[in-house]
Amino acid sequence: MNNKVKTAVFPVAGLGTRFLPATKAAPKEMLPVVDKPLIQYAVEEAYAAGIRHMVFVTGRNKRAIEDHFDTAYELENELEQAGKQALLDLVRSVQPEDMLCSYVRQPRALGLGHAVLCAEHLTEGAPFAVLLADDLMIGPTGGQPVLAQMVNTFERLGNSVIAVQEVPQEHVRRYGIVAGTADGERLLKVRQIVEKPAPEQAPSRMAVAGRYVLTPAVFEQIRRQPRGAGGEIQLTDGIAGLLASEAVHAYQYQGKRYDCGSKEGFLEATVELALAHPEVGQHFRDYLRALMV
Ligand code: G1P
Repeated sequence: MNNKVKTAVFPVAGLGTRFLPATKAAPKEMLPVVDKPLIQYAVEEAYAAGIRHMVFVTGRNKRAIEDHFDTAYELENELEQAGKQALLDLVRSVQPEDMLCSYVRQPRALGLGHAVLCAEHLTEGAPFAVLLADDLMIGPTGGQPVLAQMVNTFERLGNSVIAVQEVPQEHVRRYGIVAGTADGERLLKVRQIVEKPAPEQAPSRMAVAGRYVLTPAVFEQIRRQPRGAGGEIQLTDGIAGLLASEAVHAYQYQGKRYDCGSKEGFLEATVELALAHPEVGQHFRDYLRALMV
């Protein structure tokens, strides 16, 4: 099998009920952290990993995502006429010329596994990445972004790689949880993976973060499996199904994850990314200091 990862799948059909009323009419993936929508952080991470085909699995009320990655003709025209070149470059940089975007609908909210299955025909029978935009991942300072770390690992090992991090025992029920044996630096060979276990049944505290590089065999597993946790068709169960025939590695990524599916995580991301922002960082730092006294 060719190990090159050329496609990224972004499941973006979810309702975002945790952010109502902000998400009543706007997609949760378009919520901005400082000045960029969540989905753009994820797309830039995939692009930085060498991926050029972005597949969005969308649903109703998600038009803004398609518009964001399309030419904004009137806006670009106005900026051009006004000679605002820097802003024009910024707007155009959202959609690099060598990036291809595809959109497919997930007609019913049947779960993450089902969303990924909706993208099967766009992945060309090749390995692909899955990025959950709710999980905003920032690579280590001066190091590689998280998906690039994973694509490198995938290309070296030739089998599926999922991002993991240790979480407190009381949080395991929010995540896919993996157990396995150490197999190289930052790597575990997965023996078991289970979706949202009760703390007393969890095989470990190693939680799946929203980044995956998967072999196409996972589609067949998802098709075959019964509904899982929460009555949904789970991606975690598809990966569990793979274990009988293929190795899967869990990779403890370098960097930081912000759970932007929760208000707390979203606020943390906003504060930390604002502090690091070249334009507003210094002012914001001074402002926060003044607030503290
Ligand atoms: C999904 C996955 C879960 C994973 C999590 C990471 O859950 O099903 O395995 O640990 O993303 O954010 P969700 O957050 O959509 O409930």
